[in-house]
Amino acid sequence: MTAPLPRTIRWVGDTGGHLELLDQTKLPTEEVVLELRDVEGVVDAIARLCVRGAPAIGVAAAYGVVLGVRARAPTPQTFLGMVAEIANQLSASRPTAVNLRWALERCIGAAAERPNVDALLAEARAIQSDEELMSRKIGEHGAELVPEGGTVLTHCNTGRLATAGDGTALSVLFPAWRRGARFEVLADETRPLLQGARLTALELQREGIPVRVLADGAAAGLIRTGEVQLVIVGADRIAANGDFANKVGTSPLALACHAAGVPFYVAAPMSTFDLAVATGDDIPIEERDATEVTGLHGARVAPEGVGARNPAFDVTPHHLVTGIVTDIGVLKPPFSPHIKESAAGSR
Ligand code: MRU
Repeated sequence: MTAPLPRTIRWVGDTGGHLELLDQTKLPTEEVVLELRDVEGVVDAIARLCVRGAPAIGVAAAYGVVLGVRARAPTPQTFLGMVAEIANQLSASRPTAVNLRWALERCIGAAAERPNVDALLAEARAIQSDEELMSRKIGEHGAELVPEGGTVLTHCNTGRLATAGDGTALSVLFPAWRRGARFEVLADETRPLLQGARLTALELQREGIPVRVLADGAAAGLIRTGEVQLVIVGADRIAANGDFANKVGTSPLALACHAAGVPFYVAAPMSTFDLAVATGDDIPIEERDATEVTGLHGARVAPEGVGARNPAFDVTPHHLVTGIVTDIGVLKPPFSPHIKESAAGSR
């Protein structure tokens, strides 16, 4: 029996405490826990993907607000302005996942009601437990989608490392497995940063779920030849019409599923929906450093002098989506009215 991984995010102590993050850039070879005591450290950890995955970065940022405000000791008069300033600093660390902004807005709301650090820490803890609960409910709603004896393909990492609970897409697989369903998972390696090969494969292996890693470019061919019965992925932001942004390489999977008649599901908590964004065209896509693409594990693979495009996410249009597994149920097309209704009901 392998020991469980250290917790993805953990606040240690009271308002004088610190934040612990499992450094995901080091997995699967090393289990290093970062101890963060200032907001600058949290911004850096989010930007470098030490903590990553839409719900997880929201939770980490909320604790970052506590650290930032604590260090500057604002007066009751300057408290709210200071929280907003720190929230802006954290929000700029990664632009695509809306859970980050969602969590920071909750912190600002808490500060407006009770301008003290205790209230901010209580709100950060509440955000973490709300995300954990949403994650569990996604699993409950989606478990029956898993094809008995079949193969499920997934992209990037959407498990315990990416959330405050069991995950989004992976949280659907865990309860299905525990209830006795048997299936295999193909984990896209997810270039350039290999979240699938490094993190998803690790999480599934530790759970005892059979997993094999797949070069991203192999997925469409296996979907076409009938080797995959379900594709399920997470999301970083879902627009009001159901278009969604997720790790780059997601939209080709949706196209391949559409062409082959294979179900393509998205799993996400209500904190990932952004009704202020009408369609996927309005979702900001993070462009990361070219060296992530021109190199591998710090070694250059492209010829010196050649640059790269490195969009970290892509947008999948809603017409390619079979359903969206959320914490309040599985949404089916037409998505616009169902999303509007669900968002209103979840507030
Ligand atoms: O760049 P990352 O590793 O933060 O990207 C993560 C993803 O794209 C996940 O699929 C997404 O956050 C949703 S599931 C938690």
